[in-house]
Amino acid sequence: MYKLTKELLSKQAVEKRILEMAKEISRDYEGREILAVFVLKGGVYFASELTKNMTIPVRIDFLQASSYGDGTVSTKNVIIKRDIEESIEGKDVIIMEDIIDTGFTLKGVMDILRERKPASLKLAALLSKPSRREVDINIDYLGFEVPDEFVVGYGMDYAQNYRNLPYIGVMEEV
Ligand code: IMP
Ligand code: MG
Repeated sequence: MYKLTKELLSKQAVEKRILEMAKEISRDYEGREILAVFVLKGGVYFASELTKNMTIPVRIDFLQASSYGDGTVSTKNVIIKRDIEESIEGKDVIIMEDIIDTGFTLKGVMDILRERKPASLKLAALLSKPSRREVDINIDYLGFEVPDEFVVGYGMDYAQNYRNLPYIGVMEEV
C-alpha cells in the first residue's frame, strides 16, 4: 500500500521558488505579452501561482494531453484530449506543467503546438526527474530537480488524490 510519508518541499520553499521564476520570466519578456498554457490537471496550481506573480500582461488558456503507446519507445503517442481555445500563431507562448518525468508528454505537446507557428514557444515546469528522462526536452524555466520518487501535492496526484496539498510530499510503499 502506498502512503504519503514525508514532505519533500515545503509550501514556503515552493512559493519562494515560483516567485523567483515569475520575476525571471517577467524580465525575459519585458515589453511583451505572453499566452500561458496551463496543462491540466497537474499544472494548474503551479501555473496559477506563477502567472499571478508576473508583472507582464498575461493571457491564459488550458490544454489536457494524454500519452499512450504499446510499450516501445518509438511508438509512444501523445494526443490532445482538450485543446486550447486561442490561436497561438504569432504569439509568445509558455507551456506550464507540473513535472517532467520521461518527457514524452511534453515533447509531444510541444511538437504539436510548434506546428501552429507561435512567435516563440517555451516550457516552464515546477519539477523535473532527470534520472527518468527518455526523450530530449529542454526546460526553459525549472523550479526544482527531484529524485526518482513519486511526488504529490501542488497539483500532482496519486490516483487523483492529494492535488490540493499546499506542499510537495512523497508517496512510499509501506
Ligand atoms: P512524462 O510524459 O513521463 O514526462 O510524464 C508526465 C506526467 O506523468 C506528468 O505530467 C505527471 O502528470 C505524471 N507524473 C510523472 N511523475 C509523477 C509523480 O512523481 N507524481 C505525480 N505525477 C507524476
Ligand atoms: Mg501532468
